[in-house]
Amino acid sequence: MKVVRSIEELRDQLRGQNRIAFVPTMGNLHAAHLSLMQMAHQHGDPVVASIFVNRLQFGPNEDFDKYPRTLQEDIDKLQRQNTVYVLFAPTEAEMYPEPQSYRVNPPHDLGDILEGEFRPGFFVGVTTVVLKLFSCVQPRVAVFGKKDYQQLMIVRNMCRQFALPTEIVAHETVREPDGLAMSSRNRFLSEAERKEAPRLFRVLNEVRDRLRAGDTDLPAIEHDAQRELAAAGWKVDYVSVRRQMDLKAPGAEQVAAGQALAVLAAAKLGATRLIDNLEV
Ligand code: PAF
Repeated sequence: MKVVRSIEELRDQLRGQNRIAFVPTMGNLHAAHLSLMQMAHQHGDPVVASIFVNRLQFGPNEDFDKYPRTLQEDIDKLQRQNTVYVLFAPTEAEMYPEPQSYRVNPPHDLGDILEGEFRPGFFVGVTTVVLKLFSCVQPRVAVFGKKDYQQLMIVRNMCRQFALPTEIVAHETVREPDGLAMSSRNRFLSEAERKEAPRLFRVLNEVRDRLRAGDTDLPAIEHDAQRELAAAGWKVDYVSVRRQMDLKAPGAEQVAAGQALAVLAAAKLGATRLIDNLEV
């Protein structure tokens, strides 16, 4: 695996390649990331990964400085896995040599709801860096995890609207044996919080079970889910049932008619904010 730090070097390494499969990450790689790399390998060749902690997608009171940076460990993991051909690990000065004043604005009805409501500017930061990374790597395929459900949809829509030649492939959420979705932020959980954390997935399953059983009272379902988390000490941002196709809230008649739904949640356990979702 070649590790390249500059866009010029990256382009030199990838010249003439037209089946590149790309996995963008912010590093601190775990088993879920390695699974994305494997999936990329099934969709293209060579596999290119990136590690870049993107300041643009962090709010002023978020954990940009605290975000775990473990480049050498990440390189060792990728080398052991032997799937990635080039790892692009640019410095901030390489990605943003001047203030990034051109930005991609997702539409309000998708970018300012759910995660966008609680993390203003987050999706502008994501789409801007993803577009820039795509411009550097020029992938035919890029793999994104479903754990970041809204991000996946926004990136997919951006590619469609800009006619980017990159197909977005979704990878199922990878979970610990107790159901907790894998995330770089899990390492911030104390021992007691780690024991409590799988409740988020259990609550999502309870929501799904009620919907499957024919309950169409979404306000009551969401309220009960939030109350259960709050009672266990979580600070809940949202538990929300949405339509899979556009993340809009469904009407009761759509729920009853079996519309494809997803339940999305974000909540804080101590200082650590976790997100998860489940398709129904
Ligand atoms: O999902 C992530 O890790 C990040 O949002 C991404 C897509 C790498 C952009 O910085």
